[in-house]
Amino acid sequence: MLDRMTEIMRTLRRVLTSWYFAAPAAVILGLVIGAVIFFFAAPGKPAVGVINIPFTVIEDNSAFVIGQHLDYALEDDSIKAVVIALSSPGGGAASSERLYIHTRRLREEKPVVIVMHGMVASGGFMMAMGGNYSYALPSSLVGNVGVVGLSGGTIPPIFPEIITTTGPNKLTGGSRQHWVELIDRLKDRFAQTVIQERGDRLRMSEEELLQGNLYAGAEAVALGLVDGIGVTGDGVEKAAELAGIGRYDIVNVNAAVFEKFGWRAQLSYVPQPGTDADDADPDESNGAAGSTSSRDSETPEDQYRPPLTGALGQEQVNPLPDFPIEIGQPNLYYVYTGYGH
Ligand SMILES: *[C@@H]1O[C@H](CO)[C@@H](O)[C@H](O)[C@H]1NC(C)=O
Repeated sequence: MLDRMTEIMRTLRRVLTSWYFAAPAAVILGLVIGAVIFFFAAPGKPAVGVINIPFTVIEDNSAFVIGQHLDYALEDDSIKAVVIALSSPGGGAASSERLYIHTRRLREEKPVVIVMHGMVASGGFMMAMGGNYSYALPSSLVGNVGVVGLSGGTIPPIFPEIITTTGPNKLTGGSRQHWVELIDRLKDRFAQTVIQERGDRLRMSEEELLQGNLYAGAEAVALGLVDGIGVTGDGVEKAAELAGIGRYDIVNVNAAVFEKFGWRAQLSYVPQPGTDADDADPDESNGAAGSTSSRDSETPEDQYRPPLTGALGQEQVNPLPDFPIEIGQPNLYYVYTGYGH
């Protein structure tokens, strides 16, 4: 029995060390190691990452979500260039600037091409200044450089007698004059960003720029606010060219981020009339025919509008009573597209 085992062992050793066995085994082993390296270690085929930002008002939440997309594009090593297909009427000044800076950071690592869809106005246009190159459609609406000062104080003027404050401007952040100066400074900063980023490409004066006009895509190209006319596919080709990659995959960054973070990473949309918080109120929607009666019994709190600057307790005039969104920041890079209430 023991002899038999020894015999088997000897045969096995002979087979394992024989040329006929060892050579194919080495080839197979090589293929396996190669495949492991190919799939797990080596960088994959280069890719162009596409971030799609459908019509989105830029405020804290949407800026955070957009930032997650920019970070994903930055961190994924297979992504060598990025296309941002953007449509935005702008939004909060600080949030817009944050996205401009964030995009510019990304651009320092990987070429970024902005493709302007329906509207890239105000704060959206500021974000677009973060890219290396930009396209618009002939019918895109682009520009609107400037600032809207929506309100001063952030505390509602309810029961002012029980509020104690220090400093005459604690509640409002400053006098009317102070606010005018403040938004003027933001306006200058916006203009300087555009002038600096567009450089020689800009073919309009600062004064013209600060008219706050929206331009149709073709005119925006002529004025040097945008580099060319094109759609997302043109953006992808341009991005690949800037990155110097010939054959590439396309990574849908929205889908990748959604997979990673779930619904929390969905881009938010501007509420349309009829879908705002009031209409979403379950009591109201269940109230059928009588539902409109609640409109007649609005309490003073319901009617509250952010006060204009200064002058707490004086009669306030809200310049934008139908403003469709609550942005929660007093200064906006935003164009009010108006839904005609
Ligand atoms: C994109 O812009 C960044 C920062 O300005 C610059 O370093 C980079 O070279 C640009 N990329 C291309 C391809 O032009």
